[in-house]
Amino acid sequence: TTIYVPRDSSATSVGADEVAAAIRGAARESGHDIRLVRNGSRGMFWLEPLVEVATDRGRVGYGPVTADAVPALIEAGMLDGADHELCLGLVEELPWMRDQQRLCFARVGLTDPLSVDDYVANGGLAGLRAALDLAPAEVITELSDSGLRGRGGAGFPSGIKWKTVLDTESDLKFVCCNADEGDSGTFADRMLMEGDPFCLIESMAIAAHAVGATEGYIYIRSEYPDAVNTMRAAIDIAYAQGWLGSDILDSGLRFDLSVRVGAGAYICGEETSMLESLEGKRGMVRPKPPIPAINGLFGKPTVVNNVLTLASVPTILANGGGAYAEHGMERSRGTQVFQLAGNIKHGGVFETAFGITLGELVNGYGGGTLSGRPVRAAQVGGPLGSYVPAAQFDLPTDYEAFAAAEAMLGHGGVVVFDDTVDMAAMARFAMEFCAEESCGKCTPCRVGAVRGVEVIDRITSGEEPETNIGVLNDLCEVMTEGSLCAMGGLTPNPVRSALQHFADDFTGGHAPAT
Ligand code: NAI
Ligand code: SF4
Repeated sequence: TTIYVPRDSSATSVGADEVAAAIRGAARESGHDIRLVRNGSRGMFWLEPLVEVATDRGRVGYGPVTADAVPALIEAGMLDGADHELCLGLVEELPWMRDQQRLCFARVGLTDPLSVDDYVANGGLAGLRAALDLAPAEVITELSDSGLRGRGGAGFPSGIKWKTVLDTESDLKFVCCNADEGDSGTFADRMLMEGDPFCLIESMAIAAHAVGATEGYIYIRSEYPDAVNTMRAAIDIAYAQGWLGSDILDSGLRFDLSVRVGAGAYICGEETSMLESLEGKRGMVRPKPPIPAINGLFGKPTVVNNVLTLASVPTILANGGGAYAEHGMERSRGTQVFQLAGNIKHGGVFETAFGITLGELVNGYGGGTLSGRPVRAAQVGGPLGSYVPAAQFDLPTDYEAFAAAEAMLGHGGVVVFDDTVDMAAMARFAMEFCAEESCGKCTPCRVGAVRGVEVIDRITSGEEPETNIGVLNDLCEVMTEGSLCAMGGLTPNPVRSALQHFADDFTGGHAPAT
């Protein structure tokens, strides 16, 4: 019997290693011959550790399983997929799994992340092989046809970015993957790296072929030690398999790849700051232009893409850009990997076509708040994203629809709050966060964020609230217009949306329920 126990840190943080050890021990004692696979996570966090048993019917799930529960589960026939109060039935048929369109996350949770056989048997390398049969410009045409836009948050068309790098003459070009996933409430980059690392390697080799790059780096935040270890192990295997190195898949393509670990600064997720850090310098933002596509790492043309952008590329090449573009709405094509977090009953990863409403995600699949209280707001797109009030939850997830509502989709993170949240405190937190994480290069951000905290304190303590709300609005405008990068430039988003939708919280009118 094959048993799956995730090795993803979302599962190990709630005892998956202990569960795996208990299953091994109990199977040995009861004389069962098992093959235990440490897969990635399916992304249903409320069910972790989720144990799966391969049966003739498909994979039967049990969760959440504790190490203590293992002997009774085995006694009850779990190793044969028998029924039990923790039995969830076939995992693929759970509404959460069944209703997703997993293109980017197709293999995550399904396979052993470091198994070459699993990877190839589940569609791995098809994208790279297809790409190697095409000329670089043809690869980029597929990418443009797919409509793929940067999943890191800005939504810039990936085809245009790659074409800029291809068209820029240089003796040396780079592909850099931004895996500094700093947004609060986001974890999809980490899960992809821990759950399907070869996908990222394959995608970067495709990018290298498409733009003429020979060297690549994956910049991973230091808070992700498991992702770092998994990526490094996967890179070693990829070299041994001939998927990286001097003659990739006997095509003559040369591409070398390695991992670099950040040191915990949020600003190193900003692409120019990340490049400075990769060059061994302090992570400070560089003015743009020049854009990295023309003048990037060590001054050379560089593709800088987020993990999810790159990991969407193999499926695009394998099945064609047109097939990818069939999903989604308007100018938001393909799928988005949503991450549901905060005060939510069912948190985790949910990949689906753009267009699903925020309400379907939060109240539908997410099941509302964990506290059971009414949802008051969700912050979408990380700490620099706007607070969307529950009244606007019919908003479709589309870059432009969100922008029209003065919100942003960002990297797809959704953090949910119930009616006890004090939105003035959340606005203050946004300014505090900016003051803490500012790189200090420009004044509107470095000084503005500190003044922002002070002025919000004055408002909430009842000191000339009307005048000070005017000052806060002016300050937000200066930060938006005058900041060098998105850190200072977007911090006004959460502040303004809190002021706009929850003005009472600033003047003591909203008495948070207890
Ligand atoms: P941006 O709009 O300046 O640039 C987007 C990308 O397009 C960059 O890679 C840029 O180099 C490239 N680009 C722009 N014009 C180009 C051209 N003409 N040719 C080729 N490439 C071009 O946005 P930025 O500052 O890079 O990102 C801001 C976003 O980052 C925010 O919207 C936010 O959602 C997101 N963000 C994500 C975080 C995360 O953890 N994933 C954390 C914080 C912010
Ligand atoms: Fe640095 Fe803030 Fe200016 Fe960005 S906006 S360059 S983080 S000081």
